[in-house]
Amino acid sequence: MKLESLNAYENAYRRSVEDPEGFWAEVARGFAWQKPFTEVCSWDFEGPSVRWFADGVVNITENVLDRHLASRAGQTAIHWEPNDPASPRRSFTYQQLHDEVCRVANGLKAQGFGRGDRIVLYMPMVPELLFAVLACARIGAIHSVVFAGFSAHALADRINDAGAVAVLTADGVQRGAKTIPLKPVVDEALGGCPSVRKVWVFPCTGEPVGMEAGRDVAWADAVDGRGGVCPAEPMNAEDPLFILYTSGSTGKPKGVVHTHGGYMVYTAYSFVNVFQYSEGDVFWCTADIGWITGHSYLAYGPLLAGATQVMFEGVPTFPDVDRFWAACAHYGVTHFYTAPTAIRALMVHGDEPVKRHDLSALKVLGTVGEPINDEAWHWYHRVVGEGRCPIVDTFWQTETGGIMLSGLGGLSPMKPGHAGYPLPGIQPVLLRADGSEIEAAGEEGHLCFKHPWPSILRTTWGDHERCRLTYFSTHPGHYFTGDGAKRDADGMFRIIGRVDDVINVSGHRFGTAEIEEAINQAPGVVESAVVGYPHDIKGQGICAFVVGSGTAVAQEACDSVVEGIGRVARPDRVLVVPGLPKTRSGKIMRRILRKIAEGRADELGDTSTLLNPEVVSALVLVSKQTA
Ligand code: WTA
Repeated sequence: MKLESLNAYENAYRRSVEDPEGFWAEVARGFAWQKPFTEVCSWDFEGPSVRWFADGVVNITENVLDRHLASRAGQTAIHWEPNDPASPRRSFTYQQLHDEVCRVANGLKAQGFGRGDRIVLYMPMVPELLFAVLACARIGAIHSVVFAGFSAHALADRINDAGAVAVLTADGVQRGAKTIPLKPVVDEALGGCPSVRKVWVFPCTGEPVGMEAGRDVAWADAVDGRGGVCPAEPMNAEDPLFILYTSGSTGKPKGVVHTHGGYMVYTAYSFVNVFQYSEGDVFWCTADIGWITGHSYLAYGPLLAGATQVMFEGVPTFPDVDRFWAACAHYGVTHFYTAPTAIRALMVHGDEPVKRHDLSALKVLGTVGEPINDEAWHWYHRVVGEGRCPIVDTFWQTETGGIMLSGLGGLSPMKPGHAGYPLPGIQPVLLRADGSEIEAAGEEGHLCFKHPWPSILRTTWGDHERCRLTYFSTHPGHYFTGDGAKRDADGMFRIIGRVDDVINVSGHRFGTAEIEEAINQAPGVVESAVVGYPHDIKGQGICAFVVGSGTAVAQEACDSVVEGIGRVARPDRVLVVPGLPKTRSGKIMRRILRKIAEGRADELGDTSTLLNPEVVSALVLVSKQTA
C-alpha cells in the first residue's frame, strides 16, 4: 500500500486512471473482510449513485482494532494529552483500546441500541469520545459527532435531522483556562428532540449536572461490568458508518454520509502515503473529532494503519504558546498535522517558544482546511520543521472523506501555497463556468473530479436530491467541490478558495445564509447580509451588515449567532447600516459588501444601476468608522 518513491507514485497514479477497479481492488484486499467483495465499483454521477466493494462484508473496527492484536497488542495506539498539563496523562495500547471500545459497545447494546441507529456524540476531546465513535461503528450504529462548540439550537437541528436515539455527552469541557458546560446545552436541545431515549454523561469537569430519571445515565453505570469482547457487527461495505454535518451555501447544514468499506480503504491509503508513515513513528493530528479531519486522520486512518498517535484535549496557547512544541518534544512526534490558522496564531509569538523544545524527531509537517499564506508556510518550514521537514498541504473536504490533492511527504516536490498533485485514484479537472475544460496553466476554474474514489460521499442524510443538486448538477458528470483552483506549469494545483457562499473561518465552514438566518432572529434586526473578508489569523473573518433598530442591535446580532449556531460562528465585525445595496429585482449585491468589508471601497465600480445607490456611501462611512 505504501508508495516508496516518486516513481512508484507516478506508476500507481497511471495505473489508477487506466484501471481504477483493478487498482482499488488490490488496495482493498489488504484489509480484513468478513466476506470478500467480488464487485469493485459501480457508479453514475447523474443519480448520483456510487458503490464500492458493494457485495463485501466488513466492519471498519475489525481493521482498526482486531487485525492489529496479533502483531501490536502492546503497542501504544493513543497518547492522550489533557487540557491541563498538570492533569494525569492517559495512554492506551491497541489491546486496551480494543477492550475499551468493546465495553462501550456492550453498554450500548445492553440498552438496546444497534444496527442502523443514529447516535449523536457531543463530547470534549477525551479518550471516551474516541471509544464511543468506534463503539458505534462496532455495533453497526451510525455515529454523528457534533463539535462541542455548537449551540443547543444547532445540536437539536442535527439530532432531529438524523433522528438520533441517543446522545453521548459530558458534564462539560475544559478549554484552556475556561470551563464550558455541555450537559445543560444537551438538556436545552433535547426539549425539542423526541427521538432521543438515552443520554450518557461522562464526567470531565466534575461540575454538578441535572440527571433526568429514565433518560440520563452516568457513563460508568452504562459501561461498568460490560467487559468481554463485543463481536464486530457484520456490515455491508455500503452500510453507513457515520453522518457528519457540514455547511453549504444554502439552507441548514447537510448530513454527509460515509460508509464502512470505501471510507476504510481510502482513509488508510491516503494516511500512509501522504504522511509517509513508518513503523515506530508518532503521528499527531491536532483536529477535534467533531470535524472531518479528526474523523479521517485521528479516529480512523492512523488506527487502520496501526499507528501510534497523540490525541490532544486542549488549545495551542494554554498554559503557554509553546504547548504544541512541548507536547511534540514529550512524545517524540514525527508527524504533525494542523491548520494554517493555528500556525498563524503561533507565528505571532516568534521563534523562541518553538526553539525552547527539541523537535528533532519531526519528519513531516502537514496543513489542512484552508489556504496557507506564504509567510505562514515559510515560518512553519523554517522554524518548526528546522528547514528539513517537508510540508504536505492537504486539500480535501468533509464530502471527499480523505485527502485529494497533496504532496507525499518527502517524495514529491513542494511549493508554498500549493496543494500539489492528486493522490492515486483522484482525477481532478478544472472547468469554466460554461463547463469547458481548462487545460492550460494559470487559468482559474471550478475544481471538479470526474471519477469516483472509494470515500466520496454517498448521499446527504434524508435528502438525496440535495446531494445531487449541491455536488453533481453544476457540472453534469462531475463532482464539484465548490472551490476555485489553478494549475501551474508543473501541473501543481493551488486552491484559491470557495466560489460559493461558504466562508472558511479558521478552517471551519459556515454558509453565509446560515449565519444571516441566525442574525435575523435577533429582536431589533430587520435584515442582514454576511460576507467573508481576509483576516490575518483566521484566514477569513465574518463581517455582518445589519439593518435594524436599537442601540444594542450589533450585540443582539452576535448573541443571536452564538445562540443559533455557536460561539465558533460569532461575527468578527458587525456594521449597523441604514440599508443593503440591492439590484432592481431586490437581490443583495454581495460583491459590493465584500469590497467594503475588504476595505477596498475605491474599487466598487459602477453602482448607479442599484435600486438604492445612495446607501453605498453610508456603508463606506460606517465601515471606516468601525474599522
Ligand atoms: C478548504 C476540511 C486550501 C476548501 C478537510 C474546502 C482548503 C473546504 C484546503 C473543506 C487546503 C481544505 N488548501 N483550502 N489544503 N483544505 N480547504 O469540509 O475550501 O471542513 O472546500 O474539510 O476547506 O472544509 P471541510
